[in-house]
Amino acid sequence: KTLKDLGDLKGKRVLVRADFNVPLDGTTITDDGRIKAALPTIKTLREEGAKVILMAHLGRPKGKVVPELSLAPVAKRLGELLGVEVPLAADTYGEDAQAKVAAMNDGDVVLLENVRFNPEETSKDPEVRAPYAKKIAALGDVFVSDGFGVVHRAQGSNYDVAADLPAAAGLLVEKEVKALSKATENPERPFTVVLGGSKVSDKLGVIENLLDKANRLVIGGGMVFTFLKAKGYEVGTSLLEEDQLDKVKGYIETAEKNGVELVLPTDIVVNPGFPAGDTPVAPEVVPADAIPADKMGLDIGPDSQKLFHDKIVDSKTVVWNGPMGVFEIAAFADGTKAVAQGLVDATAAGAFTIVGGGDSASAVRNLGFPEDGFSHISTGGGASLEFLEGKELPGLKVLE
Ligand code: 3PG
Repeated sequence: KTLKDLGDLKGKRVLVRADFNVPLDGTTITDDGRIKAALPTIKTLREEGAKVILMAHLGRPKGKVVPELSLAPVAKRLGELLGVEVPLAADTYGEDAQAKVAAMNDGDVVLLENVRFNPEETSKDPEVRAPYAKKIAALGDVFVSDGFGVVHRAQGSNYDVAADLPAAAGLLVEKEVKALSKATENPERPFTVVLGGSKVSDKLGVIENLLDKANRLVIGGGMVFTFLKAKGYEVGTSLLEEDQLDKVKGYIETAEKNGVELVLPTDIVVNPGFPAGDTPVAPEVVPADAIPADKMGLDIGPDSQKLFHDKIVDSKTVVWNGPMGVFEIAAFADGTKAVAQGLVDATAAGAFTIVGGGDSASAVRNLGFPEDGFSHISTGGGASLEFLEGKELPGLKVLE
């Protein structure tokens, strides 16, 4: 169900679950992409004359009030982006929330305080969540689910509330589902999947689901060292998940059997260790099959950057999840930049490109790539991964 299914919303109290789980440095938001992504739904509802009551989580306060995880910086930034004041209720459904909602005029926006300050929100027990969700639902007439980043969770404010009110997906959730389905269900080929990030164990489901759908699997990031080791290479002190070696060997065999081209780096940027404390930034490029025993791989090398870029450009559909190296440090950011540039060039040549996952989305924005250089930048971290795994997502299922 989508916004249209909710009928005329003029004067209605519309409870919107958004994903405002943004990275913070103190009270400074370092990437406001998720707030911007919620604007189309909020603006549309205001234009329709609805009272927009937003709820969201920030971090994992584990059911306690943690002042550092207040949504105050989000209320402020959202107010700047909308050009109106966005009052923050001191609680999620208590006296202050009720008073602030009661005082709303049509078109007003109110943000409720971090839903995860309530222990019931994330309880695994549906009987604990249900009465709590009813208290939240009492604040609204209808419910709009627009926090794509949380649709893989069955929690009070995104899942149980949908059972208490007429419910529909917001514009962001609709857009995310369309984009990700386009890539996974009927991709124009060649379909290339680029995976990075530190751990292969986070990506097992995606690899398994895409090994018979993609034409090409390009692997970098910390997870690649488990692939290199599985091919019999030494990886020095690089990240390695020994317990996943057999699985990865199996993937390499399946890729070959299915005719999926597996693209691994041919050279690696290594360092004496992870740069921190006494360990300097002293990058050196070595062949991928000759990583010295005392060195740690932190990025893909220049030959691999060109190889990955070219493979991406030679595609009609590209899905990318996970950075290629420690992009936060300039000396190890070139691999991630090359992949981002590959997607930008592929988009310009008419391919459909998706950046999925929290880290890769932050990386493209922080490295200065234009948002419109990509067909779609997903706001989901775990949610977009689980979507790519082909899993049923409770926050979407409940809207059917
Ligand atoms: C995210 O950052 O991926 C979402 O906001 C979900 O957060 P969570 O993993 O803490 O549930």
